[in-house]
Amino acid sequence: MTRAAVVQGLGAMVPPGIVTNAMLAERLDTSDEWIRTRTGIAQRHMVEPGVATSDLAVVAGERALKAAGTDRVDLVVLATTTPDHPCPATAPSVAARLGLAGVASYDVSAVCTGFIYGLYAGAGAIAAGLADSALVIGAETYSSILNPEDRTTSVIFGDGAGAVVLRAGGADEPGALLGFDLGSDGSLADLIMIPAGGSRQRTPVEPADAYFTMNGKQVFRHAVERMEGAARSVLAKTGWRADDVDCFVGHQANIRILRTVALQLGLPEDRLAVNLDRVGNTSAASIPLALADAARDGVLKPGDRVVLTAFGGGVTWGATGLIWPDISVF
Ligand code: UT7
Repeated sequence: MTRAAVVQGLGAMVPPGIVTNAMLAERLDTSDEWIRTRTGIAQRHMVEPGVATSDLAVVAGERALKAAGTDRVDLVVLATTTPDHPCPATAPSVAARLGLAGVASYDVSAVCTGFIYGLYAGAGAIAAGLADSALVIGAETYSSILNPEDRTTSVIFGDGAGAVVLRAGGADEPGALLGFDLGSDGSLADLIMIPAGGSRQRTPVEPADAYFTMNGKQVFRHAVERMEGAARSVLAKTGWRADDVDCFVGHQANIRILRTVALQLGLPEDRLAVNLDRVGNTSAASIPLALADAARDGVLKPGDRVVLTAFGGGVTWGATGLIWPDISVF
């Protein structure tokens, strides 16, 4: 039997504070109608100032461990665009607060593709026999990096966290991650960027340089192309036809992106997992939050064939596939 990483438990959380489109329209030149029709988003959750990414990651991690019925893992991988500090990584602090001080832990920085990259890291370590289990978390506080004056980004992103526990198992078990397709193209790095605060531009030249920036139109185009391509590659690896996919969990960036990808793959729209109306684009937390909501809504059931795919800054993209296992979701 081929050794593989198997999903053992799923946990997710969003902070209690809700920001509706109407609330944003009070301070920005936008409208509920524009946001709903251009993105599909109706609201997003945001933390109070002072709440950090690790605070959300710890809750999601605790829930995933509880769902998996364990309190030990060999590795903690945290995917985030919004670490607590530029240095050090946030994963060791999250691991320690989960009672996992002593285990290997590190951050993965692949923006909205972060969770897929994190799964790849955890699954790779398990498949190689370097670890027998891993906790993979995607957690974000985009409210800490959004330019409050930029209507093109402020209406899209939200805060939240999700996590899965992976264990060593066999490739023929439900829950086994059945192959990955990952990619990047750094020649497009400027499409999604916080220009200042790193070694290239230490301090902002313009105040906006300190914040998250995105060329939405270009990103839209590349997201459709790369999410479709990565999904097709995973279909080829699993031997599934598009029509075999019961639940397509795409990065929750924009309902128009998800619909276009589904159309191009020849996938009926009712196979799409969608929760962006409730949580917006939560970047690295997007895929596990969508999985958790789909499982709770009954859209995702044990035995379903699932494809996960995302696109994000870098630019980066990725996909993986699995048969959904009969697991707890907290
Ligand atoms: O998470 C990583 C991946 N991210 C994504 O995949 C995001 C991909 N991009 C998108 O989802 C879309 O491009 C956006 C939602 C960001 C923008 O939608 P769009 O349909 O591409 O709009 P646009 O940028 O072409 O703007 C259309 C118009 C412009 O006005 P003019 O030039 O036509 O007069 C914008 O200035 O809409 C205007 N606009 C807005 N109007 C009201 C831009 N943002 C807003 C806003 N409210 N919030």
